[in-house]
Amino acid sequence: MPSISTSAGEIPLHEYDVIVIGAGGAGMRAAVEAIDKGCTTALICKSLLGKAHTVMAEGGVAAALGNVWPQDNWQVHFRDTMRGGKMLNNWRMAQIHAQEAPDRVLELEAWGALFDRTPDGRILQRDFGGHRYARLAHVGDRTGLEMIRTTQQRAVALGVDVYMECKIVRLLKNADGAVNGAVGFWRESGDFVAFSAKSVVLATGGVGKTWKFTSNSWECTGDGQALALWAGADAIEMECVQFHPTGMVWPMSARGLLVTEGVRGDGGVLKNSNGERFMFDYISPYFAAETADTIDEADHWYDDKVNYRRPPELLPRDEVARAINSEVKAGRGSPHGGVFLDIASRRSADFIKRRLPSMYHQFKQLADVDITTDPMEIGPTCHYIMGGVRVDADTEQTAVPGLFAAGEVAGGMHGANRLGGNSLSDLLVFGRRAGLAAAERAKGTPVDTSLEAGQVNEVVTHALSFLERDGGGTQPYDLHHDLQETMQALVGIIRTESELLEAKEKLVELGERAKKASAPGSRRFNPGWHMALDLESMLTVANCTTIAALARKESRGGHTREDYPNPDPELEKVNYVCRYRDGEYTVTPEAKPEMPSELRQLFEEEEASGGEAVAATKEGDN
Ligand code: FUM
Repeated sequence: MPSISTSAGEIPLHEYDVIVIGAGGAGMRAAVEAIDKGCTTALICKSLLGKAHTVMAEGGVAAALGNVWPQDNWQVHFRDTMRGGKMLNNWRMAQIHAQEAPDRVLELEAWGALFDRTPDGRILQRDFGGHRYARLAHVGDRTGLEMIRTTQQRAVALGVDVYMECKIVRLLKNADGAVNGAVGFWRESGDFVAFSAKSVVLATGGVGKTWKFTSNSWECTGDGQALALWAGADAIEMECVQFHPTGMVWPMSARGLLVTEGVRGDGGVLKNSNGERFMFDYISPYFAAETADTIDEADHWYDDKVNYRRPPELLPRDEVARAINSEVKAGRGSPHGGVFLDIASRRSADFIKRRLPSMYHQFKQLADVDITTDPMEIGPTCHYIMGGVRVDADTEQTAVPGLFAAGEVAGGMHGANRLGGNSLSDLLVFGRRAGLAAAERAKGTPVDTSLEAGQVNEVVTHALSFLERDGGGTQPYDLHHDLQETMQALVGIIRTESELLEAKEKLVELGERAKKASAPGSRRFNPGWHMALDLESMLTVANCTTIAALARKESRGGHTREDYPNPDPELEKVNYVCRYRDGEYTVTPEAKPEMPSELRQLFEEEEASGGEAVAATKEGDN
């Protein structure tokens, strides 16, 4: 096996056409596509294969299959996605996503995914916030798990090489400025490893561990966003962070854990400590006409007469999260600082156990609450970052040649707020496209894949520096705690200039302390060392989110400024672009690509016809 000489000795070099970093839904789907196109492909993940955070997208994958509502089609899904994203989305990504999601779901089914069924045997679809029609194909409340199981089986069957428990520290570039490899280490042994490739796909997922209360698992430390920025790529919408309205708030050990939107999609309602269904008080004028309490006790409450009228609990997530926040602030919260989510009084115990088995077990085992008889205590939890690496909508190519990004690590698709269920479809649609474009590059013009030993050695030396410092440095876990406290308190759901400025200052101080962080001891499984390196990524994310949040002087989706409480129509046309150059983070406003008139017309037609035009005119157009 080839190797590279470094200060840590010879390190093995693995050579591929394509390497995919991250093995969630996007990474798996990219790997499947690259192998299918004849590329030697490596799938590298920080965790064990099959344990990616994708499993936490529980409620379903959004695709306009039209199985429950025949009126549904890609145009309606596109419009819902843009509106849910408060029109900040990259329109081309939203269009591709809506057009291709049904094929990706059907393909998953052909590969063996066992979706729940309608009585006549088609894929069943459930209601979720901001989707005009019941659109989420699902497997009970374990949809992400089924997606991982299916894509993993496919990738392994096709012959992907899997490198598990491997943390990538830096990407490498050739003399032409193209990304051509990566250096990492095995989490267990601490030994280093290098990969060379003609194309590199980032699919590392989210950043939630940067905040204190999060639904995200330990891997979600913003590694891909940081690797891309350090390599010279752009990041957009980093200010737009989604707080999912329903995370567990009690017991403390489970705080932040996701309570799927499927609970509300299947009839659950939100109540404050007075027992009031408060969401009716928070219906924005825009949605008022579409909203009604249409739920009855039957399994299927859809009714052609009420058509798309929705319960107010199914407003987009940013709106529900802010409403819960306001109720708690007004003193109408639950004993542990959330509100109540009640499905017990709306649905039979059998229905709840059949449709929401994981939620039933989660509350029973972690909180000793039986959700078939009692309400759940829930509150907002940091769940998703809409922003991420800027990519070309069709190819997922970043600003750096050879580097692609798909899934949560990429920005643009979801604008200022993501609709639930649109992430699983995003992973499939853009994972496939990234794998395809990466394979095309690898099969096309020759790429210099020789790794420069000096670059590799620099990465190894930097990584080892945390181990070599004696006990004088700061503990990485203390730093992580301080970072999470800072971001939760100062860059949370509701933001204001003075707090963002305070956060910016604290991040400078944390950055200085992080440079001196020490994790003395062996390289063999040393969690302090892993945390010191993960912190570099989280600090990069935190800095970008904070400067972009300061720059965007308006409220839009997952970015609410108390001092600028309204959306500014001019800023709908602007991306705030973050870059990292010479050790400094910068943010620059840049004009977004303009939506073509045929797509803009979809909104105009619908407004003119009071809501029916798109469904009526486009039916059967799929
Ligand atoms: O609530 C949920 O099941 C989460 C789904 C999603 O974030 O798409």
